[in-house]
Amino acid sequence: MELLQSIYPWIKAGHVIFVIFWMAGLFMMPRFYVYHQEADPGSPEEARWVDREAKLRKIILTPSLVMVWVFGILAATAMGWWGQGWLHAKLLFVLGLSGYHGWLVGYGKKLARGQRPYSGKALRLLNEVPGLAAVVIVILVVVKPF
Ligand code: HEM
Repeated sequence: MELLQSIYPWIKAGHVIFVIFWMAGLFMMPRFYVYHQEADPGSPEEARWVDREAKLRKIILTPSLVMVWVFGILAATAMGWWGQGWLHAKLLFVLGLSGYHGWLVGYGKKLARGQRPYSGKALRLLNEVPGLAAVVIVILVVVKPF
């Protein structure tokens, strides 16, 4: 525990770095899906989007999700904050964001199989989810209102 406290600024820096990477991936992926759906089914253009989506998922999105959780859990443990109301509320929104991440991964796999369940307009609307969640999460963690 003392070691965790002594490296706390590094833990927080790691947390914020991976938060940025994760959010960037969450903002990019639905845009990729919109462009993907504008390509003709079975075309080489569509194959390129499947490849780009797989790379974004494997290189940025999923590793960042894991690292945000690891550093976040270490930070809360180091400071003994598990009983705090703001952290509970934050975790609720972070769980929601992790669920959105899971939905995005599932949607990408459907697209790769040739299915296109949602319209471009619906995808553009869903693209607002991570932004709204980030506003609430950052206020909770910085202001700590309760
Ligand atoms: C995955 C679960 C997460 C846990 C357990 C967690 C926990 C924490 C903890 C304990 C801190 C330190 C707060 C302080 O030093 O005052 C922190 C900082 C921070 N977290 Fe998280 N977090 C998580 C996910 C997220 C997500 C998804 C975002 C953004 C969308 C986020 C954004 C931030 C920011 C911006 C800070 C820096 C706040 C500051 O420097 O005052 N966190 N987090």
